[in-house]
Amino acid sequence: MKSIFSALVACFLAVQVFAQSSVLPVIPVPVSYTYGNGQYTLPASITILTPADTLIAKTGERLAAQLRTIAGRNVKVLATDQRASGDFVFVIDKRIPKEGYRLQIEPRGVRITGGGPAGIFYGVQTMLQLFPASIVSKTAPVAEQWMLPSVTVEDYPRFAWRGMMLDVARHFFTKQQVKDFIDQMVQFKFNTLHLHLVDDQGWRLEIKSLPKLTEVGAWRANRVGRWGDFTKPTPDEPKTYGGYYTQDDIRELLAYARERFVTIIPEIDIPGHSLAAVASYPELTCTTDSTYQVNAGERFMIWPGNGTFYGTLDNTLCPANEKVYEFLDKVFTEVAALFPAEYIHMGGDECYKGFWEKSKAVSDLMKREKLKDMHEVQSYFVKRVGKIIASKGKKMMGWDEIMEGGLAPGAAVMSWRGMKGGTEAATAKHQVVMSPNEFAYHDLYQGDPIAEPPTYSKVLLNKAYEFDPVPPGVDPQYILGGQCNLWSERLWTVRHMQYMLWPRGLATAESVWSPKEKKDWTGFIGRVENQMKRFDEAEVNYSRSMYDPAFIAKKDAKGELSIEMTTQIAGLTIHYSFDEFFPDRFYPAYTKPLSVPKDAANLKVVTYRGKEQVGKIINMPVAELRKRAGIK
Ligand code: ACM
Repeated sequence: MKSIFSALVACFLAVQVFAQSSVLPVIPVPVSYTYGNGQYTLPASITILTPADTLIAKTGERLAAQLRTIAGRNVKVLATDQRASGDFVFVIDKRIPKEGYRLQIEPRGVRITGGGPAGIFYGVQTMLQLFPASIVSKTAPVAEQWMLPSVTVEDYPRFAWRGMMLDVARHFFTKQQVKDFIDQMVQFKFNTLHLHLVDDQGWRLEIKSLPKLTEVGAWRANRVGRWGDFTKPTPDEPKTYGGYYTQDDIRELLAYARERFVTIIPEIDIPGHSLAAVASYPELTCTTDSTYQVNAGERFMIWPGNGTFYGTLDNTLCPANEKVYEFLDKVFTEVAALFPAEYIHMGGDECYKGFWEKSKAVSDLMKREKLKDMHEVQSYFVKRVGKIIASKGKKMMGWDEIMEGGLAPGAAVMSWRGMKGGTEAATAKHQVVMSPNEFAYHDLYQGDPIAEPPTYSKVLLNKAYEFDPVPPGVDPQYILGGQCNLWSERLWTVRHMQYMLWPRGLATAESVWSPKEKKDWTGFIGRVENQMKRFDEAEVNYSRSMYDPAFIAKKDAKGELSIEMTTQIAGLTIHYSFDEFFPDRFYPAYTKPLSVPKDAANLKVVTYRGKEQVGKIINMPVAELRKRAGIK
């Protein structure tokens, strides 16, 4: 009796929560939704009815497997074009946009109408987010009130390109880890996985006609610690760190991605970032130095801090060497045959030209082709690559540096140095993917560097959420969409990779799927917090740095240090100490700029929401703040 009573109370509370929560706890926020009355409770036996379409049936099968394992239900999937009844009914309606869907949850069942198979898949993702968090649990089966709120959701994406880039070159992620990555990105309706397959630190794709690329280029000396500070490997040091995908591995990944409506874009980053290729085939550089090794994280590019950079060794392909184009023809022949995507990405970023400047072959090329500077030399190279890629039936995309010296006809631009390159390319009527570092580089700091693993500059969650792929005044028809990037030189593990990606990836998801006017920071944070519980259930790592304060160190009128602190999220209290103990909510709350007690060495802070600690304890040395304020 008591248990029936508690079940009734639980039901009542659940209904209350559904009915009262005006914000649908779904990321990305849908185009529109209306709550109905009551809820749908999963029956003991369930039929999922899908049209007779392989990909939709697979979506049904995966849902069935989840409901069997986690909810312990009997589930059968019926793929048929005959009229039949089911608990979950998937149908196609061509009047809805291809990736769009209508999700109708009523007490008698669930109906998902997609504009196409992808639309149905996205309707399922939305529905899954409406189940209790334990639907993604790692410890199944789960005893739970398996209910969904009554609601009708109408939804479709703002952009066709909703991308994530994973750098598998700097650190290698296995085939299984890439599949897991795909499973996570699709929950938030990303549909493009850009694989950064080659770089100075590794070549990760089997090219059958060029076996040394993976025999030599996929392996390097093993180093762990602070990236960039490592010692240079000796020539005879064993090259034990690395790995690569065979072409069969890629076919398996492509099939996995296709079933989840993800296009994989391969990136072969040239002519810079090519040390792994150069270590394999030294004749590809202008210097033809055969002592080069795959980089193990020792510094070889120097950034003086004024926007320029130079290389201490030649990691570039020689634009004046015909052998380079023969090499690239072989590479792109195999890449094009393997990947069905419309685009091949040829990188083109951060190419140091100092060794080209010293090359007689390059100066002869410049005379012959009437190229007036190194930008035009790179443009010559990019245009030739464009022709090779076009000859394989593909379109070329590159980072925004490919515009320097003149953009190749028909080339698409991925804008990373802010939105500027993408704006110029779109104005010149080229297709553009916006992937600006100030909003969409999720390998950068997401909190104060004092309390985060080392990286470069900063993209806080609220900044990531401001991302709008269409700059003012730009014709949206040239903006394919947006993408966030996860460079991995400092990411040795999946746990660290996930920490950098979530929750900022959620901000990107909403920027590339949801209508601009539906975005709302406060509502988003509520939905992020709901999603954090689901990450916990799924044992996916994420960062809670959005709760930590920012420190603003200033020199006051008397030349003394004055410390201001702010939080991204409203309603938090910052508690602090100068006495070396861990502050909690019984310590003073920050209300106005702080001055430092005489001789205090450290400011420790923590954030609370009411009685709940939400941020981590951060130890900020006073000396560090004095340095930031410019106080000697
Ligand atoms: C890049 O971040 N170098 C594209």
